[in-house]
Amino acid sequence: MFPRDFAWGAGTAAYQIEGGWQADGKGPSIWDTFSHEKGRVFGDQNGDVACNSYELWEKDLECIQQLGLTHYRLSVSWARLLPDGTTRHVNQKGVQYYSKVIDDLLACNVSPMVTLYHFDLPQALQNEGGWTSPGIAAHFDNYAKFCFQAFGDRVKLWITINEPQVCAKLGHEDGIHAPGLKEKGTAAYLAGHNMLRAHAMAWSSYDSVYRPKQKGAVSLAINSDWFEPLHPGSGEDMKAAERDLAFTMGWFAWPVFVTGDYPEIMRSAVDAQSEKLKYSGPPRLPTFSEDEPAILGTADFFALNYYTSRKVESGGGRGEGLCMKSDRDAEEVLDPSWPVCGVSWLAVVPHGLRKLLKYIKDTFNNPAVYVTENGFSQVGPPQIEDVQRCEFYKDTILEVAIEEDGVDVRGYFAWSLMDNFEWADGFSVRFGLFHVDFSDAKLTRTVYRSGREYAKIISRYKSAPCKGEQLAIRD
Ligand code: BGC
Repeated sequence: MFPRDFAWGAGTAAYQIEGGWQADGKGPSIWDTFSHEKGRVFGDQNGDVACNSYELWEKDLECIQQLGLTHYRLSVSWARLLPDGTTRHVNQKGVQYYSKVIDDLLACNVSPMVTLYHFDLPQALQNEGGWTSPGIAAHFDNYAKFCFQAFGDRVKLWITINEPQVCAKLGHEDGIHAPGLKEKGTAAYLAGHNMLRAHAMAWSSYDSVYRPKQKGAVSLAINSDWFEPLHPGSGEDMKAAERDLAFTMGWFAWPVFVTGDYPEIMRSAVDAQSEKLKYSGPPRLPTFSEDEPAILGTADFFALNYYTSRKVESGGGRGEGLCMKSDRDAEEVLDPSWPVCGVSWLAVVPHGLRKLLKYIKDTFNNPAVYVTENGFSQVGPPQIEDVQRCEFYKDTILEVAIEEDGVDVRGYFAWSLMDNFEWADGFSVRFGLFHVDFSDAKLTRTVYRSGREYAKIISRYKSAPCKGEQLAIRD
């Protein structure tokens, strides 16, 4: 079932929970800038205070302990550590804050998994072109080395970049995440390319300089839906589902795990569209230089963020000009039998996770996998007795528990420890296992029923975690 050392975790991200956006010398990030612009975020909300974890970290720790987590996934804010993004100036208060968080976790027997980049680029680096500028990779490498040096004696699980696909597409193509660019059909590919270069450089630095002493593992968190053909008998729909997988998971997983380059399906789709639309600029999907660290082999495990699934039909974005949608040429729809809970994009499909895990095993040579995010959202008036979310976690964890596919799953991280700033949706969408009362200055954390349920699941597995043994998740 689950091995004895299985990681039972929950996750958060710096900008979504910390607040303290200007506290103690922190520099501004692109999310500070973006959320302060009118019309970017639901209700013009921002993360200036959020859950105030910068001041209320001990409260978060109580939540972590109440759940009985073995692991906690947090991200560190680049601009809190290095206010202008470079090591020219180090914010010691920021270093002390994360050092204390890490020490406190370890004192409670909870292992930290630390993400270096969760959407919050220092604004100073955005001013130099951000992720679309090639120089960003060296800046990221320096920042990563700084973190390995400062925290790597205690942190053994690292994620370089969270969801490069989301970051590249929503931030540079759709303009609904910071930095809010809408340069269709070009900037997202460039940003994604530089993220891969940055990741590979940081992994190589860890591998050669820090790993011999620190003995940790480094990866990048790749998000993907599970995609399947709308009409299973249709060859066109099958190809469209493959394209969707290639443009989401494959975009980042293929270079790292399979060939050192983008999936052929993706490159040929982009090239064909460029030709069709008579695009004459530089190749939209860049190529990797041989003078830089190779991309292939730069992940010590597969980190998967899974939320939902889609049925796919061929033909999408036609007539929309140069854009990723027309490159993908696929239309995604929801199966009417899948309940949609909370946000409109989140159809609840626990079995999609099993399929994706099996796909990862078969496609990427059976890597060790951590499910680094998975969760269920709530909108409208808060419901502490969140029965649907309880069912969601039970059903999903049962899918992970299935042994017959032989997937090497090492851990599961629920998203999220507590309600927080849900990016463009502000505080209107709640993913927490703890409710946070944002109307009260104390930002009181109250466990949801799903938090209690998750704690029960963890404690049952921790006390009887024998492989092959049937364990009742349901009473
Ligand atoms: C992100 C989280 C976010 C979650 C739910 C993921 O894309 O990594 O920061 O809160 O999805 O939308």
